[in-house]
Order: sequence, then C-alpha cells, then structure tokens
Amino acid sequence: MKIRKAIIPAAGLGTRFLPITKAVPKPMLPVFDKPNIQYIAEELRRAGVEEIVIVVGPDSEVIMRHFGEAPELEQRLLADNKQKLYEIEKETCSFNVKFVVQEEANGLAGAILCAEKYIGDEPFALLLGDELIYAKDDEQSCIERLIEIYENTGKSVIATMQVFGDDVSKYGNIGIGEEKDGVMQVSAIVEKPAVNEALSNYALIGRYVLAGGIMSKLKALKPRNNEIYLTDVLDEFAANGTLLATAFNGVRYDVGDKAGFIKANVEYALRSKEIGEEIKEYIKEKGKTL
Ligand code: UTP
Repeated sequence: MKIRKAIIPAAGLGTRFLPITKAVPKPMLPVFDKPNIQYIAEELRRAGVEEIVIVVGPDSEVIMRHFGEAPELEQRLLADNKQKLYEIEKETCSFNVKFVVQEEANGLAGAILCAEKYIGDEPFALLLGDELIYAKDDEQSCIERLIEIYENTGKSVIATMQVFGDDVSKYGNIGIGEEKDGVMQVSAIVEKPAVNEALSNYALIGRYVLAGGIMSKLKALKPRNNEIYLTDVLDEFAANGTLLATAFNGVRYDVGDKAGFIKANVEYALRSKEIGEEIKEYIKEKGKTL
C-alpha cells in the first residue's frame, strides 16, 4: 500500500533545551533561516507524502501560525515589491497539514495516538520533529528509502545508524538478523540499554514507516511508568518477523541537542548561497585562534 500520510510529533517539552523551549517548541528552532519542522515537511513532500499530521502541545500555536496564511504580511511584501520574500512566505503555507493537540506530553506513543482521527488504519511515516536529515537534491532521502522498502515488503521499517561506546545508551537499540541489499531483519528492540546490554551497535533514529493497524495495538498496550511505549509494539513486530531496518542515507542532525543544533546551523549556513562563503571565511579565521 502507498504511504500517503505522515505524523510529525512536535508536542514534547524539550527540557534539554531550556530556557528557549519554555515558549518555543523544539521543532520550531531555526536551522539557518527555517524552523526544523519546515525541512521535515519539505522532506515529506519530496517523498510524495500527501498529508502531514503535526501533533502539537497545548501552547504551540506558533507551529500552526508558521504553516498558516498571513494575508497582511503577504500584502505588505507585494506592495513593497518584495517578490522573492513573498514566495518564501507562500511556501510556508503550501503544505497539506492538519494539527492535533496532545494535551499532556505523555510520550511518543501518546503523540501518535492523538493523530488517529486522521491516520485511521493506514500505514504512515513517522518523523520526529527535532531531527533533521540532509540529503542532496539528487540523492534518495532517508524517508524515501524507508517508503520504498515498506512498499516493496509491506513490513514496518525503521532508520538506524551505528553508534559506539557510551552513545549506545542514548538511543533505542536493535538486534539484527539477516541482511540483504542493506535491509536488515530486526530480531528485537530495547529502549536505551546499558552499554553491556546493547543488542548491537545499531541505534534507532527518528524516521519510521509503520504498517497499518498500529493504533489499535498501541491502545491495547499496558502502560509502564504511566506511559505506553512505541517500542513495545515494535518489539512485537520484531518477534513475529515483520520489522525491518536500514542504515540511513544522508547527514543526520539531532537539533534537539545543543551541540547538534549548532552543528546543523553551521553546516546549513555553509551550504547557503547567500552567506556560505562569508561563513567559510569566518570559520577559517576563527579556526586559527582555537
Ligand atoms: P524527545 O523525547 O526527543 O523530545 O521526543 P522532548 O521530550 O521534547 O525533549 P527533552 O528530552 O525533554 O529535551 C522526540 C520527538 O517527539 C515529540 C517531541 O516534540 C520530539 O519532536 N514528543 C515527545 C511529542 O510529540 N510528545 C511527547 O509526549 C514527547
């Protein structure tokens, strides 16, 4: 079945990034001149996904405003003959987005369930709102690859990367079985394991394509520590042989982490036609003093 819909959970509290995340949701943090969540919406459009459901927190109307119409601003830009800026503004309201509110930040699975009324039993893509994966224009993106694997196999598929040392404890971790053409069978999945309990060096990153019918499975889960966990359903898929993984293409940035956020900004600024050269010169000069 074709993947037509995606969920971007953007309702977390973003505590690692306080104080900015007190009033600004983490997915709205800028990477160069756009909020991270707009890059994700562009990644989805490029992959042919038709409808995006964004899960926002109760105080996150700023995300809705970003993707909504702004008639006064547009009229002003047109009156001032600022056509290029007008197009940049129009682009932000060109996505087919629906919003749902997650009243209480009770975790990723809770956020996914909030989107049920738009997703129903369809398979969907899931892209975490604080991760950014860069792919060149002529390269297949991470989410395009996941969608291709899902459409070829009908199995849920997650993006992974290799991590080493203490870093294995920062991520969901998978056990891997047979591998063919870069697609691995997942044998088990654990949340943030101790280093000596890791199943492999493969960590989950924030891109998934999930098979239809997952909503009822999430609802049937027993809460642990008052939360339900997506990993519990994924572990069930792994156990019955219906979960695949692939190492992602492109460059990944954890924009929800302070160092990751700065790296993303430096690299996107370097790629920019507008200020790339200026920033390159600045970094070279600065490097001499470090
Ligand atoms: P994280 O766990 O990285 O984000 O969730 P967080 O909870 O906002 O951040 P910290 O750890 O307190 O700094 C990954 C993604 O899932 C969303 C977040 O907005 C982020 O995009 N999320 C998380 C929700 O939508 N709802 C939740 O209840 C939790």
